[in-house]
Amino acid sequence: MNMDQLKRQAAARALEEVRDGMQLGLGTGSTAKHFVELLGERVRAGLKIIGVPTSEATRDDAMRCGVPLTTLDEIDHLDITVDGADEIDPALNLIKGGGGALLREKIVAAASDRMIVIADDTKWVPTLGRFPLPVEVIPFGLGATRRAIEKAFAECGVSGQMAVRKTKDGHVFVTDGGHWIVDAQLGRIVDPPGLAKALSTIPGVVEHGLFIGLASSAVLAGGEGIRVIE
Ligand code: 5RP
Repeated sequence: MNMDQLKRQAAARALEEVRDGMQLGLGTGSTAKHFVELLGERVRAGLKIIGVPTSEATRDDAMRCGVPLTTLDEIDHLDITVDGADEIDPALNLIKGGGGALLREKIVAAASDRMIVIADDTKWVPTLGRFPLPVEVIPFGLGATRRAIEKAFAECGVSGQMAVRKTKDGHVFVTDGGHWIVDAQLGRIVDPPGLAKALSTIPGVVEHGLFIGLASSAVLAGGEGIRVIE
């Protein structure tokens, strides 16, 4: 089975948790896209749900698949958010933001009773940090923000190269919120909760890709089948 089929399997398993009447957060990325497509099939077969997308890309996908949408201004909570991740550790801490949607993804996950992470099992790691940590920043004063981020890294026992994210054609990548992303190659994040807290206090940092205590379960698809971790 190829990677894409594994992602679809994980999405299908998460869909089993969805019930009529639920309000759902819809994640971003290639795995979450499978979930939106499968959800669309169920909606067309009569399932009544409403979704909040975590990016403009997911909004477009959901509309194309016939998934009805709302916003967090119109409803007061979400039952489940289903989203992908770039890394998942045994405490269900995550690195997210490879697709650049971390800010909306975190707002939506935090407004949800449960967050189900769906992924192929290559995303499962003993320690976070092999995947570059995305930090969403305001372009103004970026030099000062980068120095403050480096200081936070040092205080939390990590260091590594940082680079402003670029698109394939060499332009600065701009998020749905109009911000930039700095990707930090840290290798091994020894204290994810501590680093998350330190980054959150830096003026100029809008959000970071460490999702601590937000995921309730992870559905991992691999060659051996599906594993659900809670
Ligand atoms: C987007 C994300 C994605 O969920 C993450 O990058 C995983 O993507 P994929 O399912 O394509 O591997 O955090 O900001």
